Amino acid sequence: MTPPSRSIPLSRPSVDDEIKRAVLAAIDSRQYILGPQCRELEAELAAYTGTRHAVLTSSATAALWMTLRALGVRPGDEILVPSHTAFPTVEAICFAGATPVFVDADDWYTLDPKDAAARVTPRTVGIVPVHLYGQPVDLPAVQDLATRFGLWLLEDGAQAQGAAWDGRAVGSFGRAAVFSFYPSKNLPAMGDGGAVLTSDDEIAARCRRLRDHGRLNKDVHAEVGFNLRFNELQAAALRVLLRRLDAMNDRRRELAARYARGLAGVPLELPAEREHARHVYHLYVVATPRRQELAAFLKERGIQTGIHYPVPTHRQPAVARLDPPALPRTERLVNEILSLPMSANHTDAEIDAVVDAVRAFFGR
Ligand SMILES: Cc1ncc(COP(=O)(O)O)c(C=O)c1O
Repeated sequence: MTPPSRSIPLSRPSVDDEIKRAVLAAIDSRQYILGPQCRELEAELAAYTGTRHAVLTSSATAALWMTLRALGVRPGDEILVPSHTAFPTVEAICFAGATPVFVDADDWYTLDPKDAAARVTPRTVGIVPVHLYGQPVDLPAVQDLATRFGLWLLEDGAQAQGAAWDGRAVGSFGRAAVFSFYPSKNLPAMGDGGAVLTSDDEIAARCRRLRDHGRLNKDVHAEVGFNLRFNELQAAALRVLLRRLDAMNDRRRELAARYARGLAGVPLELPAEREHARHVYHLYVVATPRRQELAAFLKERGIQTGIHYPVPTHRQPAVARLDPPALPRTERLVNEILSLPMSANHTDAEIDAVVDAVRAFFGR
């Protein structure tokens, strides 16, 4: 079958005149790195999240690494992390010299706090839960766990800008949190970008230092950091989009509701929003044992899908040396999940076309 001339992408970034004007103004300013746009964006991000500080950096991976360093992790330290996440969550832990301890998923595909508790040892220092697909992890349970075992909590909010628990923004619950501005994310840049959010003055100061060669001032380097700085063009675009973030997330939620109505009765597991949570549908992930066939059927009709993620992080060759244990739920779910097209810029008609194609596949 020939794909229709207009295909439906998995995600569609925002590009319009207001964003272009902001970027052009940043070009004209002749200040390109950590200038006024970055400073304003840091203040606006912190205010949005309800933290004292936001520290912009080159990616969420960099943000995780800097925060882990600022938290003082050392070789031998163990950090609880869900296996079902993007590899960078785990990579940053390894890069900071600590050991990831992989935790299985709960019914919402996020870190299972009970499984996490069972994996605590005297070497455990912290926990990095991930608000996966835009759905907050069970925050009260994770906070209880952290308190009970004296662990710090670092939220990976790379996929969840604007998500909330009982009306409070994710990113404000832990000692620190990170966001990613990768172009498909809920708050997207036009390239890579990330931020650390924290109300801890020392962590913020240390991250500012680490992102700029460990500098105390122009000429004095207090420690070995790296170049993980952010730039004015991206910050200018992000400032426009941050003002639209709630509306963009509302649109994602509207499209998720449209999918749910359209796919009702189809033998497909649909994403569920947990009680207390505001899910911001970074991804719209369904599950079926016929995942491969369904993906191929949609591809033939010009509909792009994705799998986030087909290989669980605890089964990645890069961490084979750790000899991670089996995680049955994670290993099962990765064979069934499929991400359908979703972004604030998809049209109702596109979502309806995906729904029709999925229904056609199941013969409904
Ligand atoms: C959950 C999660 N954590 C961390 C990252 C890393 O983000 P970045 O690409 O900004 O380094 C990603 C991005 O893929 C992610 O989805």
